[in-house]
Amino acid sequence: MVFGTRPEAIKMAPVVKELKKVKDIDTVVVVTAQHREMLDQVLRLFAIKPDYDLNLMEEQQDLHSITAGVLNGMKDILQKEKPNMVIVHGDTTTTFAASLAAFYEKVPVGHVEAGLRTRNKYSPFPEEMNRTLTGRLADLHFAPTDTARENLLSESTARLKIWVTGNTVIDALLETVKPGYDFGAVLDGVNFDNRILLVTTHRRENWGSGMKRIYQALIDLVEEFSDVEVVFPVHRNPTVKDIAEEMLGGRERFHLIEPLDYEPFVNLMNASYLVLTDSGGMQEEAPSLGKPVLVLRDTTERPEALQAGTVKLVGTNQKKIYEEAKLLLTDAREYEKMARAVNPYGDGKAAQRIVRVLIDFLYARIGAQS
Ligand code: UD1
Ligand code: UDP
Repeated sequence: MVFGTRPEAIKMAPVVKELKKVKDIDTVVVVTAQHREMLDQVLRLFAIKPDYDLNLMEEQQDLHSITAGVLNGMKDILQKEKPNMVIVHGDTTTTFAASLAAFYEKVPVGHVEAGLRTRNKYSPFPEEMNRTLTGRLADLHFAPTDTARENLLSESTARLKIWVTGNTVIDALLETVKPGYDFGAVLDGVNFDNRILLVTTHRRENWGSGMKRIYQALIDLVEEFSDVEVVFPVHRNPTVKDIAEEMLGGRERFHLIEPLDYEPFVNLMNASYLVLTDSGGMQEEAPSLGKPVLVLRDTTERPEALQAGTVKLVGTNQKKIYEEAKLLLTDAREYEKMARAVNPYGDGKAAQRIVRVLIDFLYARIGAQS
């Protein structure tokens, strides 16, 4: 199992847990630490102790250095461990580079959260290409939904190598959201009698002017509605942090906080009125909790909740963000229409399904070799 960032760790944690229950499989966990603190938060919560830690993260790292670091770091581990299979998740640079490293060692690759596509090479960047290339390298494809499966079939992926499993994020979410969750001192200063807008931004294609337009729309909303507070756990990327602090820091009813641990974060989502985000994973979590999402992106690889009407694509157009949020803050019927809990992404048993397939694959492979 190889992963490197916060969302990969959250979504791989249920798979690690299931795999560790299987006595005949020796599970080796490798973290590239493309993220450091944000990854460690997840490792702590799910009590995952990596067998290898490449500790790659650097301040303001670029795509070339992460790719080269993962490729070189994985070479030594693969040559030493000689695994029967490498399992990767999603669409980060860790995902693609680890798959490529496995391919160079002729080790089969299992891809969790396979088949998501926008068909736009540069949006999201570099994720669309990372997941497409990983799909070409993978031998087993764990598609979260039928749409993802159709995407893979349209690229001539062999039908028998695709399994629709649901998304493991729902496994993690159901384990972590608790009614009446006590935030302790973590969210001191947040007035939960007000309506909470939960905000996150980090996408590369929104860096700079896109983020400025998003933040200006938030300023306008908070000025207009006196019962609204923004809680914004700011991504540690300095490119994001600097603009957020410059535009939103010190403003009344804005809470710019450190990235939250997964447990308080998803419980905060559950206590929020509305979610505004360019995150991928939050587009899956919020609909399951019945929270409307305004997606701060021009494209999404997660059309299921869009079709169900619980998320809307608003891009980074300041006026559009303001108006769509205002509608949900003023029109109860519009809000209720979007706030229906739908769960197109799974039933919390995705990891079990994935591990069942892995057991069969590994027995068949070892049988064929002996
Ligand atoms: C990465 C993934 C993206 C994923 C996102 C989830 C790539 C190219 N991008 O984007 O697909 O959606 O993670 O959050 O794979 N940093 C810290 N501490 C941390 C994490 C990040 O300081 O714990 C800072 C570092 O300065 C680092 C920078 O953030 O250089 C960027 O991290 P990076 O992984 O390159 O990109 P993300 O934008 O986080
Ligand atoms: N998340 C978290 N703490 C935070 C913000 C987000 O634990 O302060 C979780 C969130 O619930 C989701 C994941 O991190 O599961 C999403 O991460 P991110 O938006 O960074 O990445 P993406 O999903 O866009 O790849």
